[in-house]
Amino acid sequence: MAAPPIISATDRATAYAALEPQLRELLRGEPDPVAAMANFSAALMHTFGWHWVGFYRVVGQELVLGPFQGPVACARIGYGKGVCGTAWKEGRTVLVADVDAFPGHIACSPHSRSEIVVPLHDAMRRVVAVLDIDSSALNDFSDIDARGLEALCAILEPTLG
Ligand code: SME
Repeated sequence: MAAPPIISATDRATAYAALEPQLRELLRGEPDPVAAMANFSAALMHTFGWHWVGFYRVVGQELVLGPFQGPVACARIGYGKGVCGTAWKEGRTVLVADVDAFPGHIACSPHSRSEIVVPLHDAMRRVVAVLDIDSSALNDFSDIDARGLEALCAILEPTLG
């Protein structure tokens, strides 16, 4: 796979701001959550070139793999397990600078070095899905990514229920 583009923190903030109206337009009038999550993950991947971008949906007591871009990934993650299950359990964005240093990290790919997971909520503020992004670079995510991705996820949330 091609190396991801190097995007500086300043450029990332600009990229998130530019993506916001584009995603609003792309998702406008599309009520199907799978279609919306698929286009959302494609837009992020083609903008930032990360290793893996995708969704896990809350189905009963597990997270189940949803639309994504990148190599194959584990299909199911338990509540509180790994980075994704932790973001679900704690209801907050989790940044992991070095996946090898995160106890219980679920290694779907040896190329993943850092990770960010953003929970998505329904109208009752229950977590219904998480956005998971893996980078092949160490320490690739900052608060700029957390705030930028949370703002983009807020566009998607109404589609998820
Ligand atoms: N690393 C994640 C599992 C999902 S993959 O990265 C796509 C975790 O620890 O929850």
